[in-house]
Amino acid sequence: MRALFLLTWLLMASLADAQSLREAFQPFFRVGAAVPSTEGLPEDETALLTRHFVSVTPENLMKPEALQPREGTFRFEAADAFLDRAKQLGLEVHGHTLVWHAQCPEWFFRDGASPASRELVLERMRKHITTVAGRYRGRIARWDVVNEAISDGPEFLRPSKWFEATGEDFLVEAFKSAHAADPQARLFYNDYQIESGAKRGKTLRLLRLLSDRGAPVHGVGIQGHWSIDEVPFDDIERAIIAFHAEGLRVAVTELDIDVVPRRVAGADISVRDRATEDPYAKGCPDEVLQRQAEQYARLFTLFRKHADKLDLVTFWGLHDGRSWLNGWPRQRTNYPLLWDRELKPKPALDAVLRAALE
Ligand code: G3I
Repeated sequence: MRALFLLTWLLMASLADAQSLREAFQPFFRVGAAVPSTEGLPEDETALLTRHFVSVTPENLMKPEALQPREGTFRFEAADAFLDRAKQLGLEVHGHTLVWHAQCPEWFFRDGASPASRELVLERMRKHITTVAGRYRGRIARWDVVNEAISDGPEFLRPSKWFEATGEDFLVEAFKSAHAADPQARLFYNDYQIESGAKRGKTLRLLRLLSDRGAPVHGVGIQGHWSIDEVPFDDIERAIIAFHAEGLRVAVTELDIDVVPRRVAGADISVRDRATEDPYAKGCPDEVLQRQAEQYARLFTLFRKHADKLDLVTFWGLHDGRSWLNGWPRQRTNYPLLWDRELKPKPALDAVLRAALE
């Protein structure tokens, strides 16, 4: 009788009141969120974070620009505080990111008035990685060692300053240095739109190159910045299978579903949209939120199907008010996550929870 009552109640009540993401997906994979900080987070957001998530990613404060703004001047206060508080809260930390072309200070690539030599750039990169990953040795579950090195254009690798100075070597050396500094951390290559088209093939090429050259790479992060009605479900499935077939673990590291139309695809922060429309400034139509919920549910059903290959699914932000998609590729009022700006569950949260129980 009691069981029947409980079942009826469960079916009728919003699942979000009864279930947490971390419990619901515990048999399948870890669920995480990116946040700007853990120690500076308001109490209600901290409660949401610990109730629903197992893993936390620092959205910005472990990027090279934040940690070593000038050569030899390391700023560890914010990252230390992030890790201490995460530990206190019982959250594991996904490190983001050791090597990236963006948010990386110019000094890495300069030698006085000239461009720095290949050796100098590699030496600086190794020192950065050794210092950062070494300081946090044993405390970071996974590192996004290299972020977004694959080109969106016709060439294989992005023509970044790292590539210009060192060719493919920075990739190999980054993984070797990270592994030497923290042998326990699982090391990931992380990028956007690598599930589809030419970038999927280039990713496989990159993974083979790393493996041929003895680089210790353990996983691939599919960022997962997708747009409503354009989520490439079939490509995502093919990519998870293909990356796993290379002997690697897969993570979805930066999940969100953008609901406001834009002309720019992907997640290249240097690309801006010149439009000014903000169609949902006064609120998002319910019909759009329902469609978003259905698409989130379909995604999590797919992730569940491939749970044996997936380590982690992390949302890029905790709630709609905290998403980078409010500011990129133009100022917009966006609704890409599972909670609204008042921290109320959206239809997408229920839909995702249901996908765990089906
Ligand atoms: O902290 C400064 C603040 O002092 C200053 O007043 C303000 C003025 O613009 O800028 C603040 O820094 C901003 C920072 O976010 C913190 O809010 C930067 O301008 C802004 O560029 C930065 O954007 C971040 C972006 O990466 C670039 O680092 C986003 O928050 C962050 O969500 C985004 O995350 C990236 C991943 O690392 C890699 N994959 C794509 C993803 C989305 O772009």
